[in-house]
Amino acid sequence: MPEHRLETLEPQELTLTPVPDKSLKSRIESYTIPFRELITYYRCAMMEVETKFRVLSEEFSLQYDRNPIETVKTRLKSVDSIANKLISRELPLTVESIEKNLNDVAGVRIICSFPSDIYAISDAFLRQDDITLIERKDYIRAPKPNGYRSLHLIVETPIFLHDKKKLMKVEVQFRTIAMDWWASLEHKIRYKKDVEIPSAVARELLDCANEAARLDSRMEQLQKYIVPKYE
Ligand code: GTP
Ligand code: MG
Repeated sequence: MPEHRLETLEPQELTLTPVPDKSLKSRIESYTIPFRELITYYRCAMMEVETKFRVLSEEFSLQYDRNPIETVKTRLKSVDSIANKLISRELPLTVESIEKNLNDVAGVRIICSFPSDIYAISDAFLRQDDITLIERKDYIRAPKPNGYRSLHLIVETPIFLHDKKKLMKVEVQFRTIAMDWWASLEHKIRYKKDVEIPSAVARELLDCANEAARLDSRMEQLQKYIVPKYE
């Protein structure tokens, strides 16, 4: 197979099913300066958003008895995952296509203590005047059929380069410790695996998710008695 530059792939090649890592790598090794630039912009946007939560966390630590933010995690989608996602959706493997079609190249995950903290922290974040909400999916109020719970935001944040300002999309996921615990283990067991898992296992996973949600709401009740609510 000839070497391809990421933005010069012909449309007919998009019908290819995802290819094993090795041959993807050979395409990716030819990835171009515009592509590397784009990935750098996503990394900067991810850092901007991460900093916003670190600032909120500092402020809470200073002003209140407890900090509702347990952990802030970041991840940049790998080149292989970017390529595979575009190929599986039959989208062009171009820099423009990545920017237009993928919302989750830059990801930030906020682990909160209690379910109500998720809404308090996400509201505080969305009130910031340089953040634009693009999409909101509340899988806490409406869990996925498999039991998955999280609040997902797609936002646009500016990054300031030496000669221009650029708006970049970032996916922000908010979870409690219990939701994160379940999602991490479920991911290992099932998520995005090609093979269907047995229905008994799926039922058990759903049951565990509901159990975790019950524990979250019991803890929520308890914390109301001991700490002031954030406004
Ligand atoms: P993707 O193509 O996977 O990004 O789906 P989408 O664009 O419909 O986005 P959605 O907001 O539903 O999910 C995006 C991300 O949330 C995924 O990449 C995972 O990190 C997480 N997620 C969604 N559903 C599940 C799930 O059932 N289990 C686990 N463990 N994680 C999930
Ligand atoms: Mg995703």
